[in-house]
Amino acid sequence: MPKPTYYLTTPIYYPSGNMHIGHTYTTVAADTMIRFKKQTGYDTYFLTGLDEHGQKIERKAAEAGVTPQEFVDKIAGETVELWKLMNIQYDDFIRTTEERHMKIVQKIFKQFYDQGDIYKSEYEGLYCTPCESFWTPTQVKNGLCPDCGRPVEPMKEESYFFRMSKYQDWMIKYIEDHPDFIQPPSRANEMLNNFLRPGLQDLCVSRTSFKWGVPVDFDPKHVVYVWIDALSNYITALGYGTDHDEKFRKYWPADVHLVGKEIVRFHTIYWPIMLHALGLPLPKQVFGHGWLLFGEDKMSKSKGNVVYPGPIVQRYGVDALRYYLMREMPFGADGNYTNEAFLTRMNADLVNDLGNLVSRTVAMIEKYFGGVVPAPNAYEEPDRALIATFEALPGIVEEQMDKLQFSVALAEIWKLIGECNKYIDITQPWVLGKSDEGKPRLQTVMYVLAECIRALGVYIQPTMPSTPERIYAQLGVTDDALKTWESVKTFGQLKPGTVVKKGEALFPRVDIKKELEAMAGEKDKADKKAEKAEAKAQKKEAKAEVKAEKKDDGIASFDDFMKIKLIAAKVVACERVEKSDKLLKETLDIGNGQTKTICSGIAKFYAPEDMVGKTVVLVNNFAPRKMAGQVSEGMLLCAEDPDGRVRLLTVDGDVAPGSEIG
Ligand code: MSP
Repeated sequence: MPKPTYYLTTPIYYPSGNMHIGHTYTTVAADTMIRFKKQTGYDTYFLTGLDEHGQKIERKAAEAGVTPQEFVDKIAGETVELWKLMNIQYDDFIRTTEERHMKIVQKIFKQFYDQGDIYKSEYEGLYCTPCESFWTPTQVKNGLCPDCGRPVEPMKEESYFFRMSKYQDWMIKYIEDHPDFIQPPSRANEMLNNFLRPGLQDLCVSRTSFKWGVPVDFDPKHVVYVWIDALSNYITALGYGTDHDEKFRKYWPADVHLVGKEIVRFHTIYWPIMLHALGLPLPKQVFGHGWLLFGEDKMSKSKGNVVYPGPIVQRYGVDALRYYLMREMPFGADGNYTNEAFLTRMNADLVNDLGNLVSRTVAMIEKYFGGVVPAPNAYEEPDRALIATFEALPGIVEEQMDKLQFSVALAEIWKLIGECNKYIDITQPWVLGKSDEGKPRLQTVMYVLAECIRALGVYIQPTMPSTPERIYAQLGVTDDALKTWESVKTFGQLKPGTVVKKGEALFPRVDIKKELEAMAGEKDKADKKAEKAEAKAQKKEAKAEVKAEKKDDGIASFDDFMKIKLIAAKVVACERVEKSDKLLKETLDIGNGQTKTICSGIAKFYAPEDMVGKTVVLVNNFAPRKMAGQVSEGMLLCAEDPDGRVRLLTVDGDVAPGSEIG
């Protein structure tokens, strides 16, 4: 009989910076689940990848002075390396800039248009570029994005819209009829009460104000707006819409889309509606997990408060970090990452509980039986209790894993470890080993412990894939049949006579205080290195500017002067530029729903909050240039008083943004 299939996906992440421990959390969870399903007899398929289009990437690339493709290629390479380091075994890594994806997205878009699901209109609203999300004025508080707290920008442009409203009632009924579809269940209520029942808005699905996206082939002014592009990856990766769609036919619908809670809405409302409109079955489940926080805040690249997994893995090994991520917080809830909590758990669970059990048992078998696992004699009460725990465990672990309750499954596995350690205290092998009469009983005790440890190797494999072989090496287990899920269902598979061999401690004990200092020191070093690189880049920029000024003879012709285009622009957001005491960064409404970002050297004379609302004069046709690491897309006209005070030239408020000033 063919194996049942199991298709699991992670979100495709934005390559706007390197992946941090938050992205690692989702990817490790997915990998753990896939390994578990493989272990328990499924034909699995694991998809991850990158969501490479959008305005944010376009801007980041401009800041870095490279093309968007060069920018994403670099991060894609680094992401693949990180997933190797984290021991992630995906089957496919999709990038939305690949032709196999883009072609099908165009086809899907066209089909929606031809069916009347998509229509052309005009979008007017507020947009958060870091989050690639539109917001209504009521959702925005003090001009800031409700998700990330950064300023939103007004946006007005011709757009295509997906008629989501048409499917609202169908979607509500589907969610109500399929209680397992959205997990945890509280998120289903959120979707119904906050988005569906109040009335589903049509979704803007194309943009004209930037170019870095999948072009709409029948209307090339437009690019497909990120969510149709991004969500389709789950089927384009399987060959949907091509004449080699075997994988699609085999694995779709997905068993689980694993996502962070902030994108549950896209996966449980817009994506199902898109699939329904395509006549395709829906994924069986969308699981929205919680956030790794840093203090009170979500860790995120745009907030700059991130922890990267690389240094932790280099210092303590990949399995310690994977274990921590899966064990520390219930899957679904938020939790904090701290180095201290990580080190404390490593010492307690991995060094004390698991590591000690293995090293004590192997040492005792060496000491009392010359390194050969003895045959057990008649089982007594404490043995029977432990064997009962052993035989109940597969069912318990399977039940919890199927609910993606990694931390509960691990806690159950650690109960077996706890009982083994208690069993050593009760049976007191060191007393039994003192006399010949104690030996038969000691044989049983050693056998029971060795067999439990063998099973532990099997249980921890999905979470900690490189530790089991180190356990088997000490225990002398070479037969692959003893490493399978089947083999832990009945007690007593380990063969007496197996030769054990003491090895290195599985996990070295750490001095938490010292390690915390060392980790903080390393972070300082990394921060200093980044600061130095930034300072160097700024110096280079300043030099280039001086050079450019020197080349200029200072005489402008009438023609030069006439080339300058001045327009009125309204300041909609303003903040200080970090690492510069001179610069303010303004977001300007330049009319027609377009915005520009400008840096100007007026921080000593104006506070950011005084700037918002002013209508200023913008030199609109300046080539973009980099200032203190920021890209400035023009220049504001100012006048300098004899006392050196700089004054911004402003225009009466009733001049519309975008009006030419001549
Ligand atoms: N590109 C979209 C997803 C499109 S899926 C069709 C996106 N990308 S993202 O880079 O912002 O990644 C978001 C996902 O990364 C979250 O949903 C979550 O899986 C993971 N995480 C990023 N930061 C995280 C935390 N601080 N904590 C937990 N998960 C985090 O949204």
